This record gives sequence, C-alpha cells and structure tokens, in this order.
Amino acid sequence: MRILAIETSCDETAIAIVEANPIEQRDERGTSFAVLGNALLSQVEVHRQYGGVYPNLAKREHAKNLVPILEAALEEAELLREDAQAISQETHDAITKLLEREPGLAEQFLEFIKETEPPVIDAIAVTAGPGLEPALWVGINFAKALALAWNKPLIAVNHMEGHILAALAEEAANGPVSTASPDTRLNLVISEVKMPVLALLISGGHTELVVMREWLSYELIGQTRDDAVGEAFDKVARMLGLPYPGGPEISKLAEQARSNLANAANQQGSTLLRPFTLPRPMIHNDSCDFSFAGLKTAVRYLIAGVPELDDATRREIAHEFENAVAEVLWKKTERALEQTGAKTLVIGGGVSANTHIRRVFAENVDTACLQVSLRIPTVALTTDNALMIAMAGYYRALNNDFADPDTLKADGNLRLAA
Ligand code: KG4
Ligand code: ZN
Repeated sequence: MRILAIETSCDETAIAIVEANPIEQRDERGTSFAVLGNALLSQVEVHRQYGGVYPNLAKREHAKNLVPILEAALEEAELLREDAQAISQETHDAITKLLEREPGLAEQFLEFIKETEPPVIDAIAVTAGPGLEPALWVGINFAKALALAWNKPLIAVNHMEGHILAALAEEAANGPVSTASPDTRLNLVISEVKMPVLALLISGGHTELVVMREWLSYELIGQTRDDAVGEAFDKVARMLGLPYPGGPEISKLAEQARSNLANAANQQGSTLLRPFTLPRPMIHNDSCDFSFAGLKTAVRYLIAGVPELDDATRREIAHEFENAVAEVLWKKTERALEQTGAKTLVIGGGVSANTHIRRVFAENVDTACLQVSLRIPTVALTTDNALMIAMAGYYRALNNDFADPDTLKADGNLRLAA
C-alpha cells in the first residue's frame, strides 16, 4: 500500500511517500516501509527571531510551502510526471473553496494539479492533531483538496501515534526491500513488537507515559501537570540567552560541561563538584505524573543569584538542568514499567533527540537488567516529520479507519487516550 502523508502540526512542513508491505512472518503487524520520497522544510529560521512558534505565521509558511514540498516528495519518489489533466468545474470550485482562506494557495494548487499526472498512491494521510490549529487546518484542507483531485481516500492521523510508531521502527540494513524501490532507499521496519509497549512521549507540547497493550489502543499512565519537557528546555534556553529551539542548544552546552568535567577528573584524579543543584520535581511522588514548571522557576532564581551569566555558568546550568530532567524522566518511566509490566519501551517526540536522555535510558535499561527492549528512533525520526504520519496512516488504513472528508476537522487537543 502506498501512502502519501502530510504533516503541518507545528513548524515543519513535511510530505512523505511510503510503500508499506507486510513482512511474511507470524508477526501479523510486521511491516516494511520503503521510503520513496521524504521532503521537509523547517520554519525554524522564520520563528527564531520571535523566540518561539507563532501559529498564524506557521500557517502562512505551510500554505506557501506545501505545493513545492509536494513536488519535491513526488520528484524524489519518481512519481512526478507532467501531463495536462482535465478537471471538472465542480472539482475546480470545490478545491477553490477548500483553499480559499490561504491567499494564492488555490491558484498554485490548481495549476499544479492541471499539469501533473495523478501519482500511483493508495491513500492520503494527514495529521489531524494535536498541534497548532491554524497550522493543522492548512495541512488538512490541502489533504482534502488532493483527495478530491486524485480521488483517493483520506486518513486522519494522531501526531502522537506517529511519534510512537516512528519510535518502534528500525532501519533495515538488508531488510526486506520493496520491489518498487531501489536498494539505496531508506527502509524502515516495524516487527516483532512485544506487548505491552510503554511509550514516553516528550515533545514541545507533550510529556506523557502511554501504554499500548493492544495494537493502536492506548492508556494514559502519567502526564505533565504543567509544562511539557520541550517547553521547559525552550524556556530555560531563553533565560540563558540561547536561540530557539532551545533543546539542541542546551544539549550542546551540557555535553561541553560533561566533557570538561571528565577532562578535569582525568587530570586531577578526582571529579569536580557540581556548583549548582536544581530540584527533581515529583521524583518521590508515587504517581507517574511530571511537573516542570517548578524546575523552570528554580533555574530563574539560580540565574538571578549568579554574579555573572558567563559561558562557564551557562554550561553548568544547562548541565544540571539536563541532569534533573533526565533523572525525573527515567524515574517515572521506571515506575511506569513496573506498573504496566511493559516488554517494550519506546521514547518518541522531539526531545528524544537529546543525547543525554538517550544515554541515560540506554544505560539504565542495561544496568538494571530490565527485561524490556528499548527502542529509540534514529535522530531524524524523533523530531516532526511526515514518515511517522505515513506509518501511522498505514496501520489506520489496515483497520479500515478512513476519514470522512466532509467532517474531518483539526483538533489542537486531540488525545491518544483518556
Ligand atoms: O516533536 P517536536 O519536533 O514538535 C512537537 O510536536 O512539539 O518537538 C520539538 C521540541 C522542542 O521543544 C525542542 O526544543 C525539543 O523538541 N528538542 C530537544 C532536542 N531537539 C529538539 N530537546 C532537547 N534536546 C534536543 N536535542
Ligand atoms: Zn511532534
């Protein structure tokens, strides 16, 4: 099954074309995903000057970029063929209406449709939420217009389900390769997933522990009571005078502090004491919930109390902040593992790109000899992308879970589980 997937929930405009094939095994969900095309345009530079993502600006950028990104994805998939297409007045009018809110988009879209042969795909998947509603709407209306123009079914995807499935996928070095794709293409495989799966989802908008006991069915085990962990990274980065998005910046400084510490230890035969201590919020609380607002405030007080916010101080604060976050994330995950008896643990969402968090999880699973298999996505799959939407879309299609174009809506607060 070939899926074209669209992701516009935040500040990445992304379209991927994936061919999914079942793996001939006892494993009924085992699937190989050949990535035919994968185009992504990040708006980070546009939003950086404002220190965060502005929904209406994000929406405008998506509207501007969707047709070029679609062309790029089709081109990469070798599915872009110029050919004049007749289009009925009725379809023309319906598309114009769907896209009328974005200046210029209907014209650009219709021009593209009228001169491009419909590609051989089976369905169109699109992120329906959660995310920034204005941004989600552009993607959804674009998907509806494409579904109409090419007469294809629509699939609504929950962005967080995409993060979970992307985290379950592994790169197949010599795995089953689709007949439709040359050997050089990226192949992702989801296979032999042992249930229950516990997912720690950490992104700019979410921090939650979710268990999947049966395929595509979720139960919420814990969540943040205030800020999401990515939000805390971004806010702390701002306090330290670092650019948006703050996660990677904090990570860079914290890694420098760690390597300085290691060098000092080697030279003097002893480890330097860490000069700062931050709280580990709710670490002793026996729920699986999180809280990051207090940690953020503690950083604010810490900064207010230092004589000078020089580079060395920034590095130390970033270091201690990251340690605090990683410790809390691990403790709560460990508790959730005990509570659920999960056999597979995945980390997904933008923050799972964090080197230290990945290391802490890998080491702890290893040293505790936990009977759990840890899956962490490759860094390119952790932050928002359309491949994850394609994978989730495929499984939804297998369940016959198609969307009605007349009622499909953006839902900024769409939940995976209650
Ligand atoms: O999943 P994502 O790309 O978008 C949302 O759905 O929110 O996550 C974005 C978040 C941002 O807060 C960003 O600062 C954070 O992920 N992030 C990181 C790292 N890379 C991205 N946080 C910590 N360390 C990183 N290396
Ligand atoms: Zn995300």
